Amino acid sequence: MSETQYNFGMIGLGTMGCNLVLNMSDKNFTVAGYDKDPAKVDALNNLAGSRPLKAFSDISTFTNSLSTPRVIMLLVPAGPIVDAVIKELRPLLTAEDVIIDCGNSHFIDTQLRIDNLSKEGLHFMGIGVSGGETGARFGPSIMPGGDKAAYQRIAPMLDAISAKVEGVPCTAYMGTGAAGHYVKMVHNGIEYALMQLISEAYHLLKHAGRSNKELHDIFTRWNKGVLRSFLMEITAAIFEQPDESGAEMLIDKIKDTAHQKGTGAWMSQDAMKIPAPIAAIDAAVSQRILSSLKEERVAAAGSISGATAKDMPARFEESALENALHAAFIITYAQGLAMLQKASDSYKYGVNIATVSTIWRGGCIIRAGLLEGITEVFDKDPGLTNLMLDPAQKNTLESLLPAMRSIVQSGIGAAIPLPSFSSCIHYYDSYHSAWLPANLVQAQRDFFGAHTYERTDKPGTFHTNWNETIQ
Ligand code: 6PG
Repeated sequence: MSETQYNFGMIGLGTMGCNLVLNMSDKNFTVAGYDKDPAKVDALNNLAGSRPLKAFSDISTFTNSLSTPRVIMLLVPAGPIVDAVIKELRPLLTAEDVIIDCGNSHFIDTQLRIDNLSKEGLHFMGIGVSGGETGARFGPSIMPGGDKAAYQRIAPMLDAISAKVEGVPCTAYMGTGAAGHYVKMVHNGIEYALMQLISEAYHLLKHAGRSNKELHDIFTRWNKGVLRSFLMEITAAIFEQPDESGAEMLIDKIKDTAHQKGTGAWMSQDAMKIPAPIAAIDAAVSQRILSSLKEERVAAAGSISGATAKDMPARFEESALENALHAAFIITYAQGLAMLQKASDSYKYGVNIATVSTIWRGGCIIRAGLLEGITEVFDKDPGLTNLMLDPAQKNTLESLLPAMRSIVQSGIGAAIPLPSFSSCIHYYDSYHSAWLPANLVQAQRDFFGAHTYERTDKPGTFHTNWNETIQ
């Protein structure tokens, strides 16, 4: 093959980049790869065999091997490395070339890169790719955003390499600007909350004495019902994984401090800015941070007297826990999608929520049977403000809420922290409250800061000289 014929370029030949290249090549796209690390270049060239793909360790040979206008994908760590790669690429590119960032970049960085590169006639697109290593190799969910014309040039390739659900590709245009990375951030925030909810259920079950074998059986059974999802499936599998010795289970050897790369926290930060209430997601982010305070927790556990979880049995029905998880999953998707709609309106992305839930049905980490019903809801009523308002979802939640309340009560009674479950209930109850005690907050603000308040009996803005005897 001549060195000017490759349809696509990939920079970053780590596991994700390499797998995506092989996936593209399976679908008959010709791909050139580039990586600074010669070992990665050699590894891909060894895997290439007779495939029309080639990896280079010289960046200008790489860019010269691509058909023009070029389409170059990046799978490098988010942050300054993306800018460093762009800086290196810039002098080698010509107008109309497209750079596609497939990493988990912050949407604000993506928007800046779009603006800067557009001044030189270059297109920059932010694309969310979900599904981990296996997804990248055999079909991820892909969330592209940015210039529509540039998107149309890559759409056939994205359709071909993405996961399919009943023949429908798990990829579609998400919207303008940084919409692709924004949608991926929301995906990850939901991912954090679902993982936290499953972990809270595990905590209750473990505390109630369920063995790993029983946990495997419970999650396997739940995964056959309404909770069917990738995260339930891997959870069931985790409980039957022995450690290297074969004598013990690996889960019991893993340190209880959760790490994070930041996408969940970004969602919480932007939720505060938009603003949008996403309590279950905030709680999940916060709980990861709290889990990382291992030394402090161990010290506190030794110093606090009184009842602790191990002294108090948690009394609950397994079926109630399944129902609580079902409700909490719906409420989590409701929070994430409501925030996405609000963000799309304020950033003018033009995101279609039905399209988002359609492409999340396969390939990605939060794929779940529940997304079928959610897609139908937003297909039918694209303007729906909140998933919980859909009549069918509302009925489902009404029937599940007593179980969730009883589960949270069991947790509180047994000193087992269930922050995401509790947040879901508080969100549900607050959202359905015609009255909240925010009048008192307004009165307090006006009292100490003359911040004014509105009244229920007449229009306008008011300030009161409250009891000034208080110093
Ligand atoms: C995906 C995942 C992935 C993410 C990891 C780790 O959709 O494939 O969301 O993009 O990087 O899940 O994320 P944390 O390190 O933040 O947990």
